[in-house]
Amino acid sequence: MAEAHWHVLGAGAIGCLFAAALARSGSGVTLVTRGHSGRRRLRIEDSGATTEVELPVCGLHDAGQIATLLVTTKAYDVVDAVAAVAPRLADDANVLLLVNGMGLAQELRSRHPRLQVYSGTTTQGAYRRDPTHICHAGHGDTLIGRPGQAEPPPWFGQWVRAVPRCRWESEIEAALWSKLAVNCVINPLTALHGCRNGELALRAELRAEVEALCREVTQVSYAAGYTQTAQTIGDSVARVIAGTADNRSSMLQDVSAGRPTEIDYITGYLLRIAEEHGIPAQRNRAIFEEVKAIAH
Ligand code: PAF
Repeated sequence: MAEAHWHVLGAGAIGCLFAAALARSGSGVTLVTRGHSGRRRLRIEDSGATTEVELPVCGLHDAGQIATLLVTTKAYDVVDAVAAVAPRLADDANVLLLVNGMGLAQELRSRHPRLQVYSGTTTQGAYRRDPTHICHAGHGDTLIGRPGQAEPPPWFGQWVRAVPRCRWESEIEAALWSKLAVNCVINPLTALHGCRNGELALRAELRAEVEALCREVTQVSYAAGYTQTAQTIGDSVARVIAGTADNRSSMLQDVSAGRPTEIDYITGYLLRIAEEHGIPAQRNRAIFEEVKAIAH
C-alpha cells in the first residue's frame, strides 16, 4: 500500500517542525497556505545546527485531493480552515488535529461525519524566528490517538519513523485532558498578569490563584472520570511552571500580539464539562470572563 501523503494546514512553528520531520524521513508533504502555490524552503535550527528542507506549497482552494491532513492551526481557526479544504478532502480522509485545547475533534466529527478524525498532543517546543526559520527549542513527547481505537492506523508508522518519542495513546482523551488541565491554570493567569510562567510560583498572590484554580480543576477532573489528573494536577502544574519558568505562555503571546486567544477551547471546555456535572467552578469562570474582556 502506498504511504500517506501529508497535507499540513497551519504553517506555524509546530506545523513546520512536523512537516519537515515527516519530509526528511521520506514521507510526501505539502504545506497548505492562504497564499499561492509554489515551494517553501524551511530552515530548522536544533541545538546550534541548522538543516534545510524544501516543501511544495498549495493554496487552500487549489485543486487536488487531500487524503491525509495534519491540522496545526490555532484552535479558533480549525473549523474554518477545515471547511475551506473540505471540498478537496477524500471521502474517508484522515484528519490529525494537533492543536491546543479540547472539543474540536468532536466538532469536526459532527460537521464532517465521513472524516476519520484523530487527535494529538505534543510537548515539543518550537518557535519561529521568521516564517521559514524554525527554532526547535525543546524535545518532548508526542501522543496520538482516537477515542475507542486501541491500535494505530497504518499511517502512524510514518510518525514513528519521523518523530522521536512519538507513541500511540489509546487513552488520548485522558492525555489531552491532562494537558488542558495544566493550560487552564498557567495560560490565563500569565495572560492576565502579563508575567512569565515562573512568576506564578514566586509571587504569593499568584500562588494562591494557582491553588484556587487547581482545586476546581481537581473537582472537575474527578467528576469527569479523569482520576489521574485529579490526583496529580498540583504537582503537574508546579513541574511545568518550573520547567518553563522563562516562557511567555502561548496565551500571553496571543494577548500581547492582539490576536484572539484559545480560551474557549481551554478554560471554556473545562467550564462546559463542569456545567455537565453541576460544578460551579467559580474561579475558572471569573478568569474566563477576565481573559474575554482583555482579548478578542
Ligand atoms: O501554552 C503554553 O504556553 C504551554 O502549553 C505551556 C506548557 C503553558 C508552557 O508555556
